[in-house]
Amino acid sequence: LTPGDLAGVRVVVSAGGTREPIDPVRFLGNRSSGRQGVALAAEAAARGAEVTLVSAHISGDVLAEARHPSIRIVPVGAAADLAEAMTRESEVADVVVMAAAVADYRPVQVSERKLTKEGGGVPAIDLIENEDIVASLAAARRPGQLVVGFAAETPEDQAEMLARARGKQQRKGVDVLVVNEVGWERGFESVENAVHILGPGGVEAGAASGSKRAVAAAIWGVIAEQRVLNLS
Ligand code: C5P
Repeated sequence: LTPGDLAGVRVVVSAGGTREPIDPVRFLGNRSSGRQGVALAAEAAARGAEVTLVSAHISGDVLAEARHPSIRIVPVGAAADLAEAMTRESEVADVVVMAAAVADYRPVQVSERKLTKEGGGVPAIDLIENEDIVASLAAARRPGQLVVGFAAETPEDQAEMLARARGKQQRKGVDVLVVNEVGWERGFESVENAVHILGPGGVEAGAASGSKRAVAAAIWGVIAEQRVLNLS
């Protein structure tokens, strides 16, 4: 793992949680802080990559860690905006990393006016499925381009977690899948993380725990190795 092993590599990373609008003041969201995605962007830039950070909602001070001359930030809101930005930015990327926590569903209707209690009764919010963005990006990838996905799991045990992750990796068609266990206290919003990294074919290519920056370093180590294998 040398500091310049990503020199000149064009990287797109998505980070944070999407916000699916309900009305002008409300949304459906999730607890993603964006820390792991921002750490991936910062680590890639430190190793010489040209980075585009497609940023969904990221908590308070986290985005400051992405301040680097080689990181360009593209802010997005809902999953549909994220899909559009990722599709566009991926056209010129060597590595695409989908670390964002994307809402699986969005409200069918977005009210132009704030929903009020005056109508009486509890409002029903009908949902419709969002596109699986990473699956689409993987299906559209150019030769030599690597697509990396994440899987946040709340498993009974580690064997179940890895089995679910391998299924997800296959279904979505991603080259590398980073698996992390999440819970009320773990993963989302926290400063540290613990991951397993699956390479092509579901082979365990690495594992890491500690700060999200240290985890990012391990993930880029595996990606850099895969790129070498891919190009040789
Ligand atoms: O299926 P699940 O949400 O666990 O998959 C997580 C992976 O898929 C992440 O890489 C996430 O960014 C991506 N994802 C996506 N589009 C969705 C849902 C998840 O790209 N609609």
